[in-house]
Amino acid sequence: MVPANPPDHYFPDPPTAGRRRGSATDLPTQPTAASWNSGSSPPRVATRSAASTRQVPDPVAIEAARRSCAGLSRDDPYLARRFYDHLFVLAPGARQMFPPDMTVQTERLFAALLDAVDAMDNPESVRARLRALGAAHARRHQVTEDMYVHVGQALIRAVREVTGDLSTLTASAWASVYQWLADEMIAGARESGHDR
Ligand code: HEM
Repeated sequence: MVPANPPDHYFPDPPTAGRRRGSATDLPTQPTAASWNSGSSPPRVATRSAASTRQVPDPVAIEAARRSCAGLSRDDPYLARRFYDHLFVLAPGARQMFPPDMTVQTERLFAALLDAVDAMDNPESVRARLRALGAAHARRHQVTEDMYVHVGQALIRAVREVTGDLSTLTASAWASVYQWLADEMIAGARESGHDR
């Protein structure tokens, strides 16, 4: 049952088959010693993701995620900027991972997200790219699996704020779409042997 006004961290979890160790947008359950999350909010950590068992989001969720961003221009950096503002509040330690000038970075991350959402009718067309991106994140940027939780939360906060769409449907749609993207990236990191 989805509450009428779910908190940002409430992400309904689609059914999975087989083994499940948690997911990128699960509500964190234990304190963490990870130094990158050194904000004033209680420490959070995610359980590891069952990347290989995750289902592709259903077409209704994909369509709702697309619709919520339909009016936004890819060249408009405002959504991306708000996303990073939220991320660095949720996880201040993440700031040092990014360059001082975020202009190029904001464009890249959102282009990748929106391209993936566009291509999700044919998940095979984006899976290999996402896995390579996940492997590169772990190897080159030292991104760990628990970091995906904060990125998911920041994304949904930014989409809600910038589009003004506060509906449960849109929040759940983005949660399941992001979950799939993150799980593919995490699977890529694991396959490459660079997961942490
Ligand atoms: C679905 C999730 C994500 C997507 C689609 C995504 C996408 C991207 C893309 C396209 C780039 C630029 C290409 C590259 O440098 O490899 C990038 C860079 C980067 N990402 Fe992500 N990313 C995601 C999750 C994360 C997470 C969870 C973190 C951890 C905080 C993270 C941290 C970084 C960093 C540190 C860079 C390099 C910034 C720079 O030095 O310019 N990303 N990301």
